[in-house]
Amino acid sequence: MEKERATAVVVLLCLVVVMELPEASATRYMVGGKMGWTSNVNYTIWAQDQHFYNGDWLFFVYDRNQMDVIEVNQTNYVSCNAEHPLHNWTTGAGRDVVPLNVTRDYYFITSKGYCYGGMKLAVKVENMPPPPEAAPVKSKSSDLAPAFGSQFVLPSVLAIGTMWDVLVRCERI
Ligand SMILES: *[C@@H]1O[C@H](CO)[C@@H](O)[C@H](O)[C@H]1NC(C)=O
Ligand SMILES: *[C@@H]1O[C@H](CO)[C@@H](O)[C@H](O)[C@H]1NC(C)=O
Ligand SMILES: *[C@@H]1O[C@H](CO)[C@@H](O)[C@H](O)[C@H]1NC(C)=O
Ligand SMILES: *[C@@H]1O[C@H](CO)[C@@H](O)[C@H](O)[C@H]1NC(C)=O
Repeated sequence: MEKERATAVVVLLCLVVVMELPEASATRYMVGGKMGWTSNVNYTIWAQDQHFYNGDWLFFVYDRNQMDVIEVNQTNYVSCNAEHPLHNWTTGAGRDVVPLNVTRDYYFITSKGYCYGGMKLAVKVENMPPPPEAAPVKSKSSDLAPAFGSQFVLPSVLAIGTMWDVLVRCERI
């Protein structure tokens, strides 16, 4: 009985750990780094050093009196045509967050003319690679019981060391 309860809790903890992994690695990219979204950055060069995964965000920081953030399709990205936006991300504060929540190519320009000088961003969003720790879920309860002994305590009092133990044991379930 105690054994089963301990096993159930370990399985639960493992699920929680696995479910939290993708969130822990989601990244918010400040477009253009310290330069932000402006007219004298080559965003092709900026983007080629990054890997964008589904679940990441783009953060556009810019002078709200001079720029905006317009998402367009590839054709209108190439020709700097902001008349048929897929999405206008401009909120007015000069600080716009764009969720990259679909695995596809995204294209951003400014409608303010600077696009012709190269102020445009193309981003390829890929699926998050599976975490290296991912293990198949199999039942092997006899292995797990000794971690907790006969008198089981609530997860809230688990020490860091025990958490590690649980993490290691996730691999063996
Ligand atoms: C982009 O949208 C325009 C209409 O605004 C359309 O003519 C063009 O074919 C579209 N391009 C792509 C790659 O979907
Ligand atoms: C985008 O939205 C902002 C805020 O609503 C608006 O002021 C601006 O005119 C829009 N720009 C375009 C190109 O649609
Ligand atoms: C992605 O985010 C946008 C903006 O928040 C939202 O409208 C859209 O429904 C989301 N798409 C998916 C597939 O979650
Ligand atoms: C940005 O850099 C790329 C790659 O070096 C180059 O092909 C492109 O012409 C540059 N864009 C501008 C606007 O200078």
